[in-house]
Amino acid sequence: MGKPVEPLNVGIVGCGFIIGAYLETFPKLDAVRLVAVADLDRSRADAVAAENPGVRSLSVDELMADDEVQLVLNLTIPAAHAQVALQAISAGKLVYGEKPLAADSEQAAAVLAAAAEAGLTLGCAPDTVLGTGIQTARRAIDDGLIGRPISATATMVTPGHERWHPNPDFYYLPGGGPLLDMGPYYVSTLINLLGPVASVIGAASHTRGTRTIGSGPREGEAIPVTTDTHVTGVLVHESGALSTLVMSFDAVATRSANIEVHGETGSLIVPDPNRFDGDVELRALGSTEWETLPTSAGYVDAGRGVGIQDLAVTETDTEPRASGQLAFHALDVMESLLRSAHSGQSVVIESTCNRPAVVPLTELSVRA
Ligand SMILES: NC(=O)c1ccc[n+]([C@@H]2O[C@H](COP(=O)([O-])OP(=O)(O)OC[C@H]3O[C@@H](n4cnc5c(N)ncnc54)[C@H](O)[C@@H]3O)[C@@H](O)[C@H]2O)c1
Repeated sequence: MGKPVEPLNVGIVGCGFIIGAYLETFPKLDAVRLVAVADLDRSRADAVAAENPGVRSLSVDELMADDEVQLVLNLTIPAAHAQVALQAISAGKLVYGEKPLAADSEQAAAVLAAAAEAGLTLGCAPDTVLGTGIQTARRAIDDGLIGRPISATATMVTPGHERWHPNPDFYYLPGGGPLLDMGPYYVSTLINLLGPVASVIGAASHTRGTRTIGSGPREGEAIPVTTDTHVTGVLVHESGALSTLVMSFDAVATRSANIEVHGETGSLIVPDPNRFDGDVELRALGSTEWETLPTSAGYVDAGRGVGIQDLAVTETDTEPRASGQLAFHALDVMESLLRSAHSGQSVVIESTCNRPAVVPLTELSVRA
C-alpha cells in the first residue's frame, strides 16, 4: 500500500439522506477530496455546495464530464445505482457506490464488466466492515482464538425504516427489503470473517401489502410493499462453515448479539456490522467468562466513506477491500437466498470473491 501524492478528487451523485454521513467523514480522509456534487433535484446539490466551501454544484452530466472529478461516489437510490455507475465508467471515472452494487445481479454484472473492460477500479459500500469492530473479530479468527470456525449467526430485526425515513418507498420495492437493504452489512461481514459462500438455502415471508410513512412531509401516506419483509436462511461458506441469517422489517428488536461466530475452541460476539466500532467478546473453550478483546485491527474512528480512502491508498493493480467483486458476490448470495426461498431448493452460488486482507490498526489523519 502506498499513498498517492495528491488526494483523489471525488464527485458525489445523489444528495439525499446518507450524504450527511459521508460529509462528516471526509475531513478525516487525507487521500480523498470532495470537489463537486450533483442530484436530479438540483436544489439538493446546491444546498450541499453552499455548506461546503470549494465544492461545486453541477448537473449530473456536467459532473460526469468534469475533468477534475476522478471518482464518482454514487449515493443515489438502488434503482439508479447501475445507470449512474455505467455513466461514470463510460466517462472514465473510478466509481464507489452505496450498497447494493445494483438493484439486481444482472445490472451489477454489467457494471463489473464495464469497469473491468475500462480498467477502472470499482468499490462499493458497506465499508463498516473496515472499522475496528469487525476487523478486530477478523484478526481474532485469523490468530486462531476460536480454532477452526464452524458457524455464525447474523440477526437484524426492526419494525421498518418507514418509521423514520421521510422517503422510504425504495425500501419496499425490488432491490429493497430487509435482505437487500441491511443484508449487505451482514453478508459482507460474514464473507470477511468466514470467506466466500458456495451455496444457500432460504425461506421468506411478506406480512403487509402497504406501509405507512411515519415522519416528514409525507407522514401518514401509505406506500406499496412488493418485497419480502422477513428473510431467513443458511449460507454454506466455501470453507464448510455455516452461517444462519435472519433479516426482518416485520418485528420489533433482538437482544441477542447481531453476529456470533463459533469455532471449535471459542465463540466470538461481533459488534453491529452497521457500525464501525464496538467491542468483540471471546469465550474460550473451558472458560466460564466472556472476555473483551483489545482493539487490534481496522480503521480507527472511521465513518461512511473510509472505503474510498482504502481504495485511494490501494495500489492500482490491487482490489480495494470494499470491492465491487465482493459486493457482487454478496448481492448474488442475497438474490440466491430469495430464489431459494421461492423455489424451496438449495441454490449454488456461481460467483465468488477474494476474502480481503485484514486492515492493520490504522489511525485516520486529517488532511493538512
Ligand atoms: N438512509 C440511510 O440511513 C442509508 C444508510 C446506508 C446506506 N444507504 C444507501 O444510500 C443510498 C441512498 O439512500 P438515501 O437514504 O440517501 O436515499 P434518498 O432518497 O434520501 O436520496 C437519494 C438521492 O439520490 C437522488 N437521485 C436518485 N436518482 C438519481 C439519479 N439517477 N441521478 C442523480 N440523482 C439521483 C435523489 O434525488 C435523492 O436526492 C441507498 O443505496 C441506500 O441503500 C442509506
